Amino acid sequence: MNAVIQLKRDLISVLDMKDYLEKILGKALKAKTDPPKGRRPEPLKRKVLAMVFEKPSLRTRVSFEIAVTQLGGTAIYISPNEIKIGERESVADVARVLSGYSDGIMYRAFSNEVMRELAEHATVPVINGLDDKEHPCQCAGDLLTILEKKKTLKGLQLAYVGDGNNVCNSLLLGCAISGMNMRAATPKTHAPDAGILEKAQAVAEEKECVVEVTSNPFEAVENADIVYTDTWVSMGQEEEKEEREALFLPYQVNAKLVEKANKEWIFMHCLPAHRGYEVSEEVMDGPHSVVFDQAVNRMHAQKAILAEIL
Ligand code: CP
Ligand code: NVA
Repeated sequence: MNAVIQLKRDLISVLDMKDYLEKILGKALKAKTDPPKGRRPEPLKRKVLAMVFEKPSLRTRVSFEIAVTQLGGTAIYISPNEIKIGERESVADVARVLSGYSDGIMYRAFSNEVMRELAEHATVPVINGLDDKEHPCQCAGDLLTILEKKKTLKGLQLAYVGDGNNVCNSLLLGCAISGMNMRAATPKTHAPDAGILEKAQAVAEEKECVVEVTSNPFEAVENADIVYTDTWVSMGQEEEKEEREALFLPYQVNAKLVEKANKEWIFMHCLPAHRGYEVSEEVMDGPHSVVFDQAVNRMHAQKAILAEIL
């Protein structure tokens, strides 16, 4: 008899979802708008997700915990002070131990290298809950929100304004995979990751869309259907706060900046947001803002991801 070797499927980069992103977005939207009648299906019954956090979290922690619970499984939260990964014991040993207890590991890390090291040594799927390079689950929730609001992804124009960080990197890949055009406006010194941009542009060519980077925020926002920003000071960069706030000031998303966006533009932010810094209060709390739908959609997108890979 031929043994079938089932490879575990990690989700470290948005690129790992390339072949099933469209499918999970469709499933998530259907489950949200047309929930199953009667008993809820429980694809995660008796399964356990270990959630390891090196940094704080509201949305990622709570949305994953509720997603797993509603799918019939159990999520275990491991706080930044508990494991001290790579300090109290090696990354590889943590991966081996958690693989023996759980059916999957969700990990919020400082470093993408450590994320990949954990995945290499784990025998269960590892899901990236944010690292310094990417935030793939955020991207899935974001695309779900755009699909929900605009009924399509292909051909739309997304403007990302601000820091070329983890959220921006994941959006470059997510837009390219979905056939969406994206223009990221960042200071030249804080552009998105060059390797990720190159990969996103290769996918964009295949999907007949354009992902590009500029340093002019007004140029990025012109004719945009979606205007997206994120904090100027990501977790771990607190020491650079003053310097960053001065540098990013011209990149604030405010009423003036969005004047040339498309009429029905939506404003997106992964949260937490800082009113008066990366976004003005009038935009953040104005009629175009969909930021709280976006937060809710993290949970719906993650349910589809968990059912797909765990
Ligand atoms: N957007 C997001 O990941 O939020 P948290 O840091 O609160 O999880
Ligand atoms: N870029 C931000 C995202 C927070 C969800 C950070 O890394 O802190």
